[in-house]
Amino acid sequence: MLAVEARGIVKRFGRKLALRGVDLEVRRGEVFGVVGPNGAGKTTLLRIIATLVKPTAGSLRVMGIDAIENPAEVRKVIGYLPEEADVYPRLTGWENLLFYARLVTGSEAEARKLARLGAEISGLGDALRRKAGTYSRGMRRRLLLARTLMLRPQLAILDEPTSGLDVFSAIGVRRAIARYVREEGATVILSSHNMLEVEYLCSRVALINNGVIVALGTPEEIKEMANAPNLEEAFLKLLGGGVGEG
Ligand SMILES: Nc1ncnc2c1ncn2[C@@H]1O[C@H](COP(=O)(O)OP(=O)(O)OP(=O)(O)O)[C@@H](O)[C@H]1O
Ligand SMILES: [Mg+2]
Repeated sequence: MLAVEARGIVKRFGRKLALRGVDLEVRRGEVFGVVGPNGAGKTTLLRIIATLVKPTAGSLRVMGIDAIENPAEVRKVIGYLPEEADVYPRLTGWENLLFYARLVTGSEAEARKLARLGAEISGLGDALRRKAGTYSRGMRRRLLLARTLMLRPQLAILDEPTSGLDVFSAIGVRRAIARYVREEGATVILSSHNMLEVEYLCSRVALINNGVIVALGTPEEIKEMANAPNLEEAFLKLLGGGVGEG
């Protein structure tokens, strides 16, 4: 069974065509990467899969559910980490996690259990006792990722999960994502500008440019396709100078 099945997804914002007919199949249990230049349509695609934006045209099934007809059902089984999101600055890191855990369960014991899982995923340690408003951008990002994964979504949609993180924090986040997929048997779809990250995490990757998928395959297949030694050069070759907004 597929985690995501998108056919002919088009999204128009006024006169701007952000997506021009995207077909995509994401398998259950895989980490699927979406890459491409700024303005390519990655966030728009992820927001559509997360049912936050309705496509102008096309069909979409998420975890077997028709996402256009039943977005509320889809939301019960997915988690979404937005590109831009913030924490509650006046709550501590721990209180942030507990707040979100309480939204999904009536049981205080269960909420604490979820928040403890979140605390572990965040890797923030003692900093969880500090007000989140005092956190660096990277620390906020880790708290938000933990908030998303601790609810154990069947499908986690992560928009640039490691943007702005230092090398060590980014490795921590990548390990947390890999472990999540391994232990929960969940599916992840993520966008990234870091090709090392994509190579490390993703079983398959789609390169988007100008609202269309221009290449899709395993990192190995994409390197072979472009006859390039690494993903970065492969993507540059595949984009062939046609980089940017259309
Ligand atoms: N709400 C909106 N209203 C108008 N245009 C939008 C809106 N959201 C996105 N766009 C446009 O759609 C295109 C795709 O944007 P999107 O945010 O999906 O790109 P992206 O691939 O995520 O880029 P980045 O790498 O910078 O995050 C851009 O041209 C953008 O300006
Ligand atoms: Mg984006």
